[in-house]
Amino acid sequence: MTTPDRITTPISPDSRTLRTALLLGATSDIGIAVLAELVEHGLERAVLAARDPDAAEQLVLDAAPTLRVDALAWDALEVEGHRAFVERAAEVLGGIDVVICAVGLLGHHAGRSMGPVDVEHMVRTNFAGPAAMLAAVGQHLAPRRHGTIVVLSSVAGVRARRSNYVYGSSKAGLDAFAQGLGDALVGTGVRCVVVRPGFVRSRMTHGLDPAPFSTDPATVARATVAALHRPGQEVVTVPRVLGPAFAVLRAAPRSLWRRVAGDR
Ligand SMILES: NC(=O)c1ccc[n+]([C@@H]2O[C@H](COP(=O)([O-])OP(=O)(O)OC[C@H]3O[C@@H](n4cnc5c(N)ncnc54)[C@H](OP(=O)(O)O)[C@@H]3O)[C@@H](O)[C@H]2O)c1
Repeated sequence: MTTPDRITTPISPDSRTLRTALLLGATSDIGIAVLAELVEHGLERAVLAARDPDAAEQLVLDAAPTLRVDALAWDALEVEGHRAFVERAAEVLGGIDVVICAVGLLGHHAGRSMGPVDVEHMVRTNFAGPAAMLAAVGQHLAPRRHGTIVVLSSVAGVRARRSNYVYGSSKAGLDAFAQGLGDALVGTGVRCVVVRPGFVRSRMTHGLDPAPFSTDPATVARATVAALHRPGQEVVTVPRVLGPAFAVLRAAPRSLWRRVAGDR
């Protein structure tokens, strides 16, 4: 991370208006819903980072037809190119106001059935790849003293369940990384907001029975954008009731947690 004492650019006076965005994982239902919600609050232009940029562009324009978009090929696992990709996105946008990291891979109820190759792939997709990109984003934004980073974590990372502990542990890693990054960026003018949804009815969970307090991408998007307009809010749990619920559950004895989580 570039040290704050090398920072020279002043914070923009309209730093609370988010006009440009970089969406990482730009075919994500939740990520696209966040972009659409940001458009309602003044977002004008976005770079869409996706493995399939054409698909991402189509999906985003369906959801936010007025948004000016540039869709670029990007794979979270190709970490060597992350720094250059951020520079390119910033050049296209003329400066980045907000970065949304929506990369993720669930794997339906995959736990013990996952062997070493699948485990490594999930950990790289949910944690190592996004973390490497967030490091690049932090290094780009900090010297410019401007920018907001939104990281899609999950309540699944608060306490891993036996049915999907690979996903849960990978989200826990990303969540801890994002919190640490946010703390490291304090004083630079850059902010990192961690979003922890519960079960969201999206492409990722298609075909699964909804968990209690399930929600939809638009609801996650509204809560996320509302938090961006509240200076100081660092974590958003959606729906809100899951925040205190998981604060209790994470402290529950393991035997009780196993019963509560069941096979969900
Ligand atoms: N849905 C839920 O219940 C839920 C709950 C809590 C948290 N979350 C988190 O919210 C985020 C968005 O989830 P979602 O529900 O919107 O799921 P989604 O629609 O399946 O989106 C996941 C995104 O990750 C992208 N991705 C996967 N591997 C990638 C890679 N190697 N490089 C680049 N992009 C890659 C996918 O791109 P492709 O189109 O190329 O596959 C897709 O854009 C994820 O981080 C997820 O863990 C979801």
